[in-house]
Amino acid sequence: MLFGHEKTEMLHLPTPLEHLKNVSEDLGISVYCKRDDLTNLATGGNKLRKLEYFLKDAQYKGATMLITEGGAQTNHGRLTAAVAAKYGMKSAIVTSDPYPGEISANLLLDGMLGCNVHFVKDMETGRQAVIDKYTAKGEKVYYVPMGGSNELGILGYAECASELDAQAKEMGIDDAEIYVTVGSMSTYMGLLIGLKECGSSLRVKGVNVLPYSENAADEKGNEAALREALSDYYKRICEFYGRDFNVSPDDFDITTSCIHGAYNNAVEEVREVMYYLARKEAIIIDPCYTGKTFEAIVDRARRGDIKQGTNVIFMHTGGLPGIYTLHHRVEFERELMPYMHIEE
Ligand SMILES: Cc1ncc(COP(=O)(O)O)c(C=O)c1O
Repeated sequence: MLFGHEKTEMLHLPTPLEHLKNVSEDLGISVYCKRDDLTNLATGGNKLRKLEYFLKDAQYKGATMLITEGGAQTNHGRLTAAVAAKYGMKSAIVTSDPYPGEISANLLLDGMLGCNVHFVKDMETGRQAVIDKYTAKGEKVYYVPMGGSNELGILGYAECASELDAQAKEMGIDDAEIYVTVGSMSTYMGLLIGLKECGSSLRVKGVNVLPYSENAADEKGNEAALREALSDYYKRICEFYGRDFNVSPDDFDITTSCIHGAYNNAVEEVREVMYYLARKEAIIIDPCYTGKTFEAIVDRARRGDIKQGTNVIFMHTGGLPGIYTLHHRVEFERELMPYMHIEE
């Protein structure tokens, strides 16, 4: 029970907090990885912690089906489908992206999990039409918002904050900066609120990968827009729970410097840190979310912006299937071809 809300336990928690010895030696800072990529359904990821709470709410309301929305390659959609499959419910994803021409990456897993993906022209009308269609067929639909980011969506990571705080204490880490990806915001917001609630000395830094302003290349504009979105979101959270969590706008420690101009674009610098982490620690990150966040850590450490000896916790939020998306895969294949040796 957290802030008056129960969850349906489906995960093997806590996820490990690992010291990355090789990366730490190389960067001259102590880097740890919180392995939320190892959460145990359908290749894992951060959305499952949120879905423990959504599922409980859906079960309480007698739902027979989970419907959510996102990009065609939504990790959140795949994990919503996974939870529905495991708990005997139907599922559907609504996306306003076009059909990409192949069933790969998350779309492949969605299909395997028995989830219907609806490619609609307009989200506002398309979403409701899909919900109405299943309702007319007799389903009791529970709608999970994009990214699982409504007021309930903070609970998974508010809980993770105290889990992480306890693990850090156990490992003798009394001061650290947690780097986490900011997309639809509830992972970051949950951590921030959860750390405040348990009086933790750990600090959370958000790395934004989803442009919040019209001009994705405008770093300052994006930061201002994200700050406003975070403030609005926080206000709604306080209203919903009927209390304040003592978060002030000054607590929003975020960067928009790793967006690289667009959401989910193929970026050489990001692939470089993906290869770096794979080759140093055998940990696979993704090109859309975690790759950009890990890039922020490596980049800041190399520039000396993270002081030598600082403890850094990289929150690995999953996203593995993203490496199989066509526009990323072609770049990987081109760059990794030299590792293929066709012997005569
Ligand atoms: C792999 C991965 N990491 C991080 C995030 C960002 O989490 P949030 O949407 O809660 O900000 C997402 C969101 O889709 C994700 O799929």
